[in-house]
Amino acid sequence: MVVDKSYKIAEIDPRIYGSFVEHLGRAVYGGIYEAAHPTADTYGFRNDVKTLIQELNVPIIRYPGGNFVSGYNWEDGVGPLGDRPKRLELAWRTIEPNEVGTNEFARWAKEIGSEVMMAVNLGTRGVDAARNLLEYCNHPGGSYWSDLRRSHGYEQPHKIKTWCLGNEMDGSWQIGQKTPQEYGRIAYETAKAMRLVDPTIELVSCGSSSTAMPTFPEWEAVTLDHTYEIADYISLHQYYGNRDHDSANFLARSMDMEHFIRTVASTCDYVKAKKRSKKTMYLSFDEWNVWYHSNDTDAKIDPWTIGPPQLEDVYNFEDALLVGSMLITLLRHADRVKMACLAQLVNVIAPIMTENGGRAWRQTIFYPYLHASRYGRGESLLPIVDSPKYDAQDYTDVPYLDSAVVYREEEELTIFAVNRHLDEALGLRCDVRGFEDYRIIEHIVLEHEDLKAVNTAEVESVKPHSRGGAECRDGFVHARLSKASWNVIRLK
Ligand code: AHR
Repeated sequence: MVVDKSYKIAEIDPRIYGSFVEHLGRAVYGGIYEAAHPTADTYGFRNDVKTLIQELNVPIIRYPGGNFVSGYNWEDGVGPLGDRPKRLELAWRTIEPNEVGTNEFARWAKEIGSEVMMAVNLGTRGVDAARNLLEYCNHPGGSYWSDLRRSHGYEQPHKIKTWCLGNEMDGSWQIGQKTPQEYGRIAYETAKAMRLVDPTIELVSCGSSSTAMPTFPEWEAVTLDHTYEIADYISLHQYYGNRDHDSANFLARSMDMEHFIRTVASTCDYVKAKKRSKKTMYLSFDEWNVWYHSNDTDAKIDPWTIGPPQLEDVYNFEDALLVGSMLITLLRHADRVKMACLAQLVNVIAPIMTENGGRAWRQTIFYPYLHASRYGRGESLLPIVDSPKYDAQDYTDVPYLDSAVVYREEEELTIFAVNRHLDEALGLRCDVRGFEDYRIIEHIVLEHEDLKAVNTAEVESVKPHSRGGAECRDGFVHARLSKASWNVIRLK
């Protein structure tokens, strides 16, 4: 591998380390919020969960959905608690008690140092509800909705900058699914009204729900025809699984993510050319993760309860490796991907798990996310990689070495690397001659003999160590990347 300061991809937007909290399962109720929990603060939010989220340093959190938002009446979640209705929540077929709503979430996010990425309902609602919610959140006062917020005890506006125009509107599962033409029109008109309320906001136009959607990438081409000039970002969502226990194929799935990013960027550029526009559309990869372990259990959960254990994937070691490769992919596209959300944050397909009334712990995927968020800020550099390759079921020429490099001038150079080889270590030789006098300060490794090893409340079986043993000699980093491992090599 060769790394040089002049091979700069882009400055990394820290918001690529965002996450997501949806009113779904135990993400809110029993996750971030549990008034009866021994660690609950005066607002009912769990302090043990806050501590773990703060460790991850999450810059932005998407809220309140997800599929949930397409049936949500935001007015249900504001005002005196006793007046808030319990509703049938149709996306996940639960009861939504509305104990947590816009104000509680915005206050909590501010406390933990995260921005809110707010989604508006373009499923059952539209322009009117969206512009009212924005006025409620961001207008200082002297109007109906802003004064209502003040009367609810929130004198200062929440100043929410980033807004998603609906969620997965291409999906048959979405309440109020739209054709691309229908979505393009309502998204444009909603955006227009929202910008009149607050011209400082940023808007995310809804892209395809995955590369597998039959309308991908035509959806992007048609919807952007409407929203190109008014939106700042287009969203991408993607989840992967290893249902057939083919780990070599599973670890290559980040190549599909790469193809997704490239295709959406190209489609944006096609619309740009067609419109003779000067503007570049950026990408918000605002749902990504591994998701499949809980599918069978979820099918058996009874409807109409509050906070059922939905989408509670227990992540294993190989999931952490793919999450590492997905983070590497985002870093290598830092020029176009400016926001991304690991979906989700607590209990629901999440790096953090909790017991109701009990403990909170780190899943395996917590660690690559932590390392990238902690050491992956600065400039993304393009590593020139010459790696042996393999062919998998769905992918050919998969490099065993998957890598991204981040540079913070005068401070630190970090090499992130996954060895996808399931049986053999890789010898890494990396030319860093452009970084004079740099020395290794740490080589963190996440490895495990068992690809299916998991963490529980009792035992943290998958956790990183700093005994990687990388060395720097005559301007070259030499390291042994153990079979199936996630590596963070830090130089200074
Ligand atoms: O994150 C879980 C769900 O996945 C979200 O609600 C939806 O947007 C996606 O299909």
